[in-house]
Formats: sequence, C-alpha cells, structure tokens
Amino acid sequence: MDYGLKSRIASILKPNNGRGVMLAVDHGYFLGPTEKLEVPKRTIAPIVRYCDSLMVTRGVVRSSVDPNFPVPIVLRVSGGSSIIGEDLSNEEITTSIKDAIRINATAVTMSIFVGAKYEHKSLVSLGHLVNEAEEYGLPVLAVTAVGKELAKRDARYLSLSCRIAAEFGAHMVKTYYCDDFQKVVNSCPVPIIVAGGPKLPERDALALTYNSIKAGAAGVDMGRNIWQSQYPVAMIRAVRAIVHSNYNLDQAYKLFQQLAKGQPEQQSRGNFNQNRNQNRPQGNRPNQQRPNQSKPNSQRPNQGKPQQGQRPQNRPQGKPQQKGQRPQQRPQQKQQNRPNQKPQNQNKPQNKPQQKPQPKPAQTPKPSPQAATPAPAEQKTQ
Ligand code: R5P
Repeated sequence: MDYGLKSRIASILKPNNGRGVMLAVDHGYFLGPTEKLEVPKRTIAPIVRYCDSLMVTRGVVRSSVDPNFPVPIVLRVSGGSSIIGEDLSNEEITTSIKDAIRINATAVTMSIFVGAKYEHKSLVSLGHLVNEAEEYGLPVLAVTAVGKELAKRDARYLSLSCRIAAEFGAHMVKTYYCDDFQKVVNSCPVPIIVAGGPKLPERDALALTYNSIKAGAAGVDMGRNIWQSQYPVAMIRAVRAIVHSNYNLDQAYKLFQQLAKGQPEQQSRGNFNQNRNQNRPQGNRPNQQRPNQSKPNSQRPNQGKPQQGQRPQNRPQGKPQQKGQRPQQRPQQKQQNRPNQKPQNQNKPQNKPQQKPQPKPAQTPKPSPQAATPAPAEQKTQ
C-alpha cells in the first residue's frame, strides 16, 4: 500500500490498536436539519476534540468546522435523494475528488444499497470512486446503507453488503451491528466500522459499541447516539474509552454517569480478551480500578481522552475536565445538567476484575427505531 493511502488510514484508525472513533454529522445530506443537528457548528464544536475523524459533507465542513483546528475529514461524496423522496437508494457521486482534495479530506465516503432498486448504480459508483480516489491516495469508506428498510440489518445481509464493498475496493466499510456480528467481521477483509443508528438509551448505545469492538470492529462511526444524548461530551468520551482504552460496558457507563454528573472520573481499564487486534500496548491488562488521586490526568495515556499532541488546541474552553470541574456542556445544557439515572450505589462493587477470560457480550438491544427517540423524520432511516 502506498505511503499516502496508508498514512491517511492511520489517521482514522490509529496504528497502535487499529481502532478509531469517527463522529458522524453527515445526516443533513438527506435528512435536513435533524434533531440536535439543526446548527451543525454548535453540535460539532464541543465534541469534535474527542473524535479521531469527522464524517461530514462539504457544505458542513466549509460552514461549520474550524480549519484552524483540523480534524481528519471523512468526506461524504454521495447523495441525491431525501427522506421525503421516492427512494433513498437513488444516489450518485455529488462531490468531486478535486474538491475533496481542496478540502484536505483524509478519506471519501459513499453509500451502497445492496439489493435495492438502485443497487447497480451505487455499486458501479463505488468502483469508479475507488478508481479515482486511489490515484490520489485517498481511502474510500463504503457505507452499507439500508434506506428505510431497517429490518435488513441481519448478519446474512450485512455480510453480503460488506463483502461486496470490500471486493469493489473499499478500504474500510461502515455497517450496522447485528446478532452474529462476528460473521460479518470475519467475512470482510477490510476494517469494519459500526454505525450507531437511531438514538438509544446511553447504556444500550455503549453496549452496542462494546459488543461491536469485542466482535472485531475497528471502531464506530457514531452520530445520533452521541449528539442526541443530553450529555454529548460524556457520551463520546465513554464511547472513546471503550474503543481506545478497553473499558467494558459497566466501566464505560459509569464513566458516562460520572461525566454527566460533573463528577471527577474514576480511572479504570477495560480488558478485551476476544480481540483480533493484537498490537495494542494496553491490551490484556487486568481490569483494575485505579485510585483517582494517584496521577494527574495528563500523565495517564489513552484513558478515553485525546492524547497529548492530538489536536490539543481544539478546546472550546481550556483543558478537558479536571477533577472537581463540571463537564463542558453547551450553555443551554448546563441548566439541564442533571442525569436521569439514580445516584450510584457506592457500596455496589463496580469495575470488578473480570474473572472469565471471555465475557459474554453485553446485552445489546437491536437498534430498532421503536427503542429510539429520533426526530419523526428519522424513525425509518438508515
Ligand atoms: C447516514 O447515512 C450517515 O451515513 C450517518 O453517518 C450514519 O448513519 C452514522 O450515524 P448514526 O450513528 O447517527 O447512525
């Protein structure tokens, strides 16, 4: 693989563990002003520093992302249908590679619609996009979209779609989590990134993240489950802790609760025993609870936060939370800074050392639209 291609992929999927947290904010390209993404700049600013890459359209990059604090851009280059139109699968390439390069995109992305009316068009577009993008060393992320047919999200269909995307030359594939997700991962020769889907309760979205990573996903490309949360900073940091610091579900949810309440976080490390990425420096450590006081946060590497040197300048208000500080929230969220959850029972053992070498997957509800609280227009969308 050429240097350019490889280095661009490395800024999306970190080379130390092959994983990444992609923040999806491209929904407006077919959904318009989706709930909590009405003003993209306001949605993006508080959370962008916690992602490794941003999935976005050229319109929102130019209007709503600060070029002085660059983040790897995964540029959506397909579109052509809207939620109120006839068929969401009727997409074409709408943004040129030249413009992607002008924007300084790190990768380009488009949707494919396997089995849909416009399957042929989307697959041929993928082939052409790979041809063109490879000329400039730009990786292509293929999104296995299902349009309004959410029921399609099973292992058989998603394996078919992901494999076809990889066969067409996609360098990474984004798909949905499903039962038997390992089958999808195992039959796809390129890294798989999992979409969040419609909004779920936070613990369920973290379970989806945890189970995806445990099954071998390279990361998540999550949107609504982060920025439609009442606590988007807490949520993305908890997601990040699973992806990059091997937090298990309980640990990640506890971190979410602590950050949402404005409590100082208690450091803990997760432990994935089932993981195909073997080159993680922090892998397979015992799952221990660390006292909060031992070291300042800045000295602890990779604890669910961007590491030093990772766009540290992109801070809306100084450093990320320090002990005793409230989490950074958008002004209107400060007043609602009360978690819905009951206070944690301090006597309850949290972050128990894992005794079983291969923990069962956390219960992940199928990301069904019924369980979600999306905007009305989103209820039946990809
Ligand atoms: C939808 O078509 C977009 O590609 C989104 O980026 C994707 O669905 C991921 O966002 P979410 O986690 O909200 O599903």
